[in-house]
Amino acid sequence: MADLIIKNLHVSVEGTEILSGIDLTVRKGEIHALMGPNGSGKSTLSYALMGHPSYEITQGSVEFDGQDLLEMSVDERARLGLFLAFQYPQAVPGVSVTNFLRMAINAHRGVRGDGRNDDPDAPKPIKIPEFRKVLEEAMELLKVDRDLIRRYLNDGFSGGEKKRVEILQMALLNPAIAILDETDSGLDIDALRIVAEGVQKLVTERGMGALVITHYQRILNYIEPEFVHILVDGKIVASGGFDLAKRLELEGYAPVLESFGIEAPARVGAGELAGTKA
Ligand SMILES: Nc1ncnc2c1ncn2[C@@H]1O[C@H](COP(=O)(O)OP(=O)(O)OP(=O)(O)O)[C@@H](O)[C@H]1O
Ligand SMILES: [Mg+2]
Repeated sequence: MADLIIKNLHVSVEGTEILSGIDLTVRKGEIHALMGPNGSGKSTLSYALMGHPSYEITQGSVEFDGQDLLEMSVDERARLGLFLAFQYPQAVPGVSVTNFLRMAINAHRGVRGDGRNDDPDAPKPIKIPEFRKVLEEAMELLKVDRDLIRRYLNDGFSGGEKKRVEILQMALLNPAIAILDETDSGLDIDALRIVAEGVQKLVTERGMGALVITHYQRILNYIEPEFVHILVDGKIVASGGFDLAKRLELEGYAPVLESFGIEAPARVGAGELAGTKA
């Protein structure tokens, strides 16, 4: 089972502790939502799990698929089935979306260079007809426009277009566990529904597990999480079911946290939801 098991994770950036003891288990087929005010450490958690070099793990452990995730390189993590959709996807001018997606699949298969190799057991690049087929399926699932994938990756893409291409990449790579960092921000109402239903489909049909980082309950109407966690100042201070997200939307952080016996940080007012940056 490719479960993700995080125990007492402490993460520092440039000597400052941002995460102070995270305990969280995401199993295949489960949807978890991670909510929390701006700056509480949600993106830090996703970067640390993907192995970004600026995020130093000072304590704790992360197990993925029964192995020590923290000992793995970034591409080993990806090959084992961990996927991160970034809050701010980067542009790659000069590389078309189609080529990027094919390279991503090949890298994921462990193909080195152009894949020419005398070793018969070496991983082989995906064949073009097979690539076309999986790409068509994923584009159909996520209603991605043909013109978009001919363009250079994220170069001049609108915020919503970048997010769609990220999710297209996810559908092609077929991860065991996906972390979606504010995939909903910047998507228009129709795109939000299509992307969210696509994620839900990967969960239902392929048994993917998802950690959905979001500020708003809206995406959770299409991707219904079994578990909702609230992160404040680098700690998960409360966990519950879907109703917890609904309560946050209605009441804001302060009253909900108070009901758990936690004092909200001063910058989080009653009835006020933290906004997004994207
Ligand atoms: N590279 C960095 N250098 C300095 N500080 C950082 C760095 N990365 C994160 N931080 C700090 O860590 C804290 C947590 O940031 P993070 O991006 O994880 O928050 P977040 O919960 O994702 O917020 P948001 O909801 O706004 O996306 C913030 O105070 C941020 O300024
Ligand atoms: Mg963030």
